[in-house]
Amino acid sequence: MFSRLVRTTTFKLTLIFLVVFIVFSTVLIGYFAWNTRRVFTDQIVQSVQEETRMLADQYRNGGIRRLVAILDRRARRPGSSLYLLTTPAGETIAGNIASLPAGVLDRAGFVETDYSRLDDPDDAHRALVQSFQLPGGFRLLIGRDLEERDRLDAVIRRGIRLSSIFVIAFGLIGGVIVTRRVLRRIDRMTETTNAIVGTDLKNRLPLAGTGDELDRLAASTNTMLDRIEALMQGLKQVSDNIAHDLKTPLTRLRNRCEEALRGGGSPEDYRAALERTIEEADGLIATFNALLLIARTESGQGRQTMSPVDVGQLVDDVAELYQPVAEEKGASLVATVPTGLTLQGNRELLAQALANLLDNAVKYGVTSANGEKPVIRIGASASSSGIELTVADSGPGVAEADRARITDRFVRLDESRSEPGSGLGLSLVQAVARLHGGTLTFQDNRPGLKASLLIPAPPA
Ligand SMILES: Nc1ncnc2c1ncn2[C@@H]1O[C@H](COP(=O)(O)OP(=O)(O)OP(=O)(O)O)[C@@H](O)[C@H]1O
Ligand SMILES: [Mg+2]
Repeated sequence: MFSRLVRTTTFKLTLIFLVVFIVFSTVLIGYFAWNTRRVFTDQIVQSVQEETRMLADQYRNGGIRRLVAILDRRARRPGSSLYLLTTPAGETIAGNIASLPAGVLDRAGFVETDYSRLDDPDDAHRALVQSFQLPGGFRLLIGRDLEERDRLDAVIRRGIRLSSIFVIAFGLIGGVIVTRRVLRRIDRMTETTNAIVGTDLKNRLPLAGTGDELDRLAASTNTMLDRIEALMQGLKQVSDNIAHDLKTPLTRLRNRCEEALRGGGSPEDYRAALERTIEEADGLIATFNALLLIARTESGQGRQTMSPVDVGQLVDDVAELYQPVAEEKGASLVATVPTGLTLQGNRELLAQALANLLDNAVKYGVTSANGEKPVIRIGASASSSGIELTVADSGPGVAEADRARITDRFVRLDESRSEPGSGLGLSLVQAVARLHGGTLTFQDNRPGLKASLLIPAPPA
């Protein structure tokens, strides 16, 4: 458990922050300590210099005797400065210093040195001292004890040590707590993912509802799972369709061939049987092609090749194609073509969709009930929600209850069985609508069916 914890990004980040914080605060405190120490030392130097000036005055006025008297008096005061006056031979004449390391008296300027006091000869102390040569070989030393400064140093050092220990301890504990919380959530996600990989494609990752990065990751993973599920569903549907709806015509084809072989008929009979076989094979190929086109459209192919499409031109072209067929069936085809209307889309697929709608109108919408000449209208209009392409006929229409299922693959209503077709036309129209982010809806045209393909306008 612990090694897993230590390997997480959260824990590593905690450690990095901890190190950065400690380095930064050590530098900061160190700078303060160094400055305080410097101010302290400066003060000591100043007070020693002042005393030196004063003693120099006294020496000028009263000679060595006067100096000895003053030093004796001052050295006895509690908390006094440090003094030492020696003969040329090095014997002490006055002062409060018991011992000094050799050579200190010979060094010029301020010197930091160990020493011991007369009133406390066994303890070693530190001091900042300055020595002078007096005429006649006498030597004078003036200085101050450094105990206070060193105590302050010790306090600061202990402070740094203690606070570092606290910061490290609390930082580590906090890091472990935060990391364990994150780990728990990741573990739950991993469990769910494993379940999904195992069997359950319907399962989704849990969201904590905090909207943090883990939530966002989970949400987009869920969206991806939705998409995968939809694609799998589509795939399953296609294979089911192939299994059910292509098997029957293939079996029929095979049986017919067998029948022709067994019959022992004339060459004309064989010819007729072969022609029918070719016809059915063509139908099968067309069905396969339609299925493939639908599958490709549903998987999003064709979205890459979207370009501005002139709606008027599109409607015109398709209408022109179906004009002769409509006339042959005794219907009139009226195209209402607006000018200057464009939409962003795949021209070929849109034309195929319109052709499928017109094909249906010509096939099922030309049986006129009251003897009037059937009319098929194709048109386009722009609204705030996008561009609407409509195909309307004046035939028997489709009952409200059937309108939702006629877009399903291979669905053909009973009354249409006499016409050729495989029930895939509207499935493609539906797929084209979805590819463009639009919708396909049916309304009652009173009489007849009105199909509307709404393609939303691209965001400005
Ligand atoms: N304009 C219409 N009037 C009446 N019924 C219609 C109309 N359009 C479609 N339908 C019904 O919806 C069914 C499905 O239509 P679809 O275009 O998907 O398949 P199809 O026309 O039968 O075959 P295909 O288009 O593959 O040749 C049709 O069989 C028909 O019953
Ligand atoms: Mg059709």
